[in-house]
Amino acid sequence: MIKVITYGTFDLFHEGHYRLLQRAKALGDYLIVGVTTEAYDKARGKLNVVDSLVTRIENVKKTGFADEIIIEESYGQKVNDIRKFHADIFAIGSDWAGSFDYLRDYCRVVYLERTKNISSTMLREKNSPIQRVGIIGTGRVAGRFIQEAKLVSGISPQGVYNPHTDSAFLFAQRWGVNAYEDIEDFYKMIDIVYIASPHETHYGYIKSSLEHGKHVLCEKPMVLKRAQAEEMFQYAKEQKLILFEGIKTAYCPGFNQLLGVACSGIIGSIRNVEACFTKLEHKDARELNDQAYGGSFTELGSYVMLPVLKLMGQTFADLRFDVIPGGNGLDLFTKVSITCPAGIGTATCGLGVKSEGRLLIAGTKGYIVAEAPWWKTSYFEVHFENAEKIEKYSEVFLGDGMRYEISDFLSVISGNNQNEFKLTSQESIALAGIMERFLEEQNRTEKSRGGGRDIYADKTTGTSISFDHYTGI
Ligand code: CTP
Repeated sequence: MIKVITYGTFDLFHEGHYRLLQRAKALGDYLIVGVTTEAYDKARGKLNVVDSLVTRIENVKKTGFADEIIIEESYGQKVNDIRKFHADIFAIGSDWAGSFDYLRDYCRVVYLERTKNISSTMLREKNSPIQRVGIIGTGRVAGRFIQEAKLVSGISPQGVYNPHTDSAFLFAQRWGVNAYEDIEDFYKMIDIVYIASPHETHYGYIKSSLEHGKHVLCEKPMVLKRAQAEEMFQYAKEQKLILFEGIKTAYCPGFNQLLGVACSGIIGSIRNVEACFTKLEHKDARELNDQAYGGSFTELGSYVMLPVLKLMGQTFADLRFDVIPGGNGLDLFTKVSITCPAGIGTATCGLGVKSEGRLLIAGTKGYIVAEAPWWKTSYFEVHFENAEKIEKYSEVFLGDGMRYEISDFLSVISGNNQNEFKLTSQESIALAGIMERFLEEQNRTEKSRGGGRDIYADKTTGTSISFDHYTGI
């Protein structure tokens, strides 16, 4: 009996897939089809798969060509499968010509001619037209967004807006997009907006983007007042638009795996979450000198509060901020301590004090630890009372990680995915509430010392908001 083996994602099952399976089967007597998992596709940079694994398997099954269907979940699996199943022929489409010649050491390799003018990518683009994205803000993070967006299909960076037109034109030249002097012209040319302007301008830009009918992905912290977050999510819902807060950790596969393991019961009931992220900034950096909205917590607080909110919930019996202020009163280092019905949590961040960046989740049966940069989770361990028993988990983390949030944002827009659970509007609203409380407390403390943040200067409304030299992390 001649055994043939082939692999594929088989997303949005189409004629090309059908013909490939038909010809692969005809090469022998028994056909084994390996269907990739979502995690494996993500790991190899295929971020936009629409159909679930179950649907893709069902579609392969329906053709009647597959005698056996297996799951492909990692690199290197093909060699082992060929040995395990004693496959005589490895068959794959001609778009892969040459890529699998190394398998000739184990079996015959056949490249079958690819069916012309059809692919999952084409169907995805037909079903969900390319989204032209406009970027508000010209700092480092905006440049990284463009680099990462290029790796996600279905999105095309179109233009940039910054009221400081010089910055906008420089950015546009560097990244090959258009700069707009008039925000109305900017809105006319785009479908979705990515906001990476200074924190205090987010509210105004989200509002105006939604009013112009655009879906919005906004950098963290999305807004600095709870009521503003509530208003924006409600408005987006009414307008049937998607509003996402861009905390990239929330969308990265490793962090989601970690949350899944933490909630699986393996460490028992979760009683303590400690998250720390510090990043030393130069003393002249904007983050340490913006008297109104600078400081460690507004900059990094979203990252460290994320696992606490995810694992301990949003109902706190007590929430306390301990702050080490710099000479200008802004926080160089902040520790948030929370008490909630399930246990306690601490979220620590610093731009002027260095500490060990770590995420620790303690439960009644064990603990999980992820070292820095845990906010780009690629590895974590589960420990138990028996110190010799350690479970290790790793997950691919590609590039800067923004591609995951961009890809989730797009799939929610196209209605293909319900990934909003990764960072819910309720969690974003809770985060805005915590930011608001922090700024109020800081302001009170500093006022009593004769200082105080300039948070009442209204920079949060209107659309023509001035900013420059903004970098963002
Ligand atoms: N295939 C084919 N003809 C096509 C498309 C795919 O013969 N027009 C073959 C591929 O070469 C592969 C198998 O079908 O052997 C599964 O391909 P897959 O990557 O799942 O499909 P694509 O349509 O190529 O997907 P994408 O556009 O996401 O790359």
